[in-house]
Amino acid sequence: MEIIVVKDNVEGGKKAFELIKEGMDQGAKVLGLATGSTPISLYHEMIKSDIDFSDMTAINLDEYVGLAPTDSQSYHYFMDQELFSKKPFKETFVPNGLAEDAEQEGKRYDQIIENHPIDIQVLGIGSNGHIGFNEPGTPFDLTTHKVELLPSTIEANKRFFDNVEDVPRLAYSMGIKSIMKSKKIILMAYGETKAEAIKNSIEGPVTEEVPGSILQNHDNVIMIVDEEAAKLI
Ligand code: GLP
Repeated sequence: MEIIVVKDNVEGGKKAFELIKEGMDQGAKVLGLATGSTPISLYHEMIKSDIDFSDMTAINLDEYVGLAPTDSQSYHYFMDQELFSKKPFKETFVPNGLAEDAEQEGKRYDQIIENHPIDIQVLGIGSNGHIGFNEPGTPFDLTTHKVELLPSTIEANKRFFDNVEDVPRLAYSMGIKSIMKSKKIILMAYGETKAEAIKNSIEGPVTEEVPGSILQNHDNVIMIVDEEAAKLI
């Protein structure tokens, strides 16, 4: 695992963008993408660059259950706003928050990932160590599945909603097994609230209690962390 400590999220976004460009030069065609505030600086770099993504496929990690793509709180909408409407891709995929049959949606999304093996997966991390929406305690061998969000995640994500009651309690998430199949993983983390999750992911035992710790078992992971997120390592 390579750890790159940067000054802030702006420098982190530039660094992540360089790695993606390098990957594309080497033939990467499929990007796994993430939501949350962390990847926004990377998306800014992508948008302002003159790099053409119209031959690229993007596959997102997760989506809230019950939110339509047109809902301004959905991850689908977030991705359209933050990236896809400004930088066209060949095709983009986000789990369908309106899917009623979780098993069928899981299978559908797994098939998409199988048809488009992810070259570079971009990840953030929750302060409780979650990746995608794989909460602590999620079995490492799951593929796309329905998740019950933990109170700590609902609390952390309420800032994007008017009321905490509006935060969906369920989500669809790519599983750890699928994330681990990506050829390269770039995880970014900024701020003190991520310091413990970063320490546990890098130095702690590999345990389902810290989903990010599984990355120790992947042979091509780069973590881009700012000084605050790196302060316990
Ligand atoms: C959400 C997303 C994750 C993201 C995490 C951190 O719960 N499902 O993919 O990594 O939160 O969010 P942020 O980047 O806003 O700190």
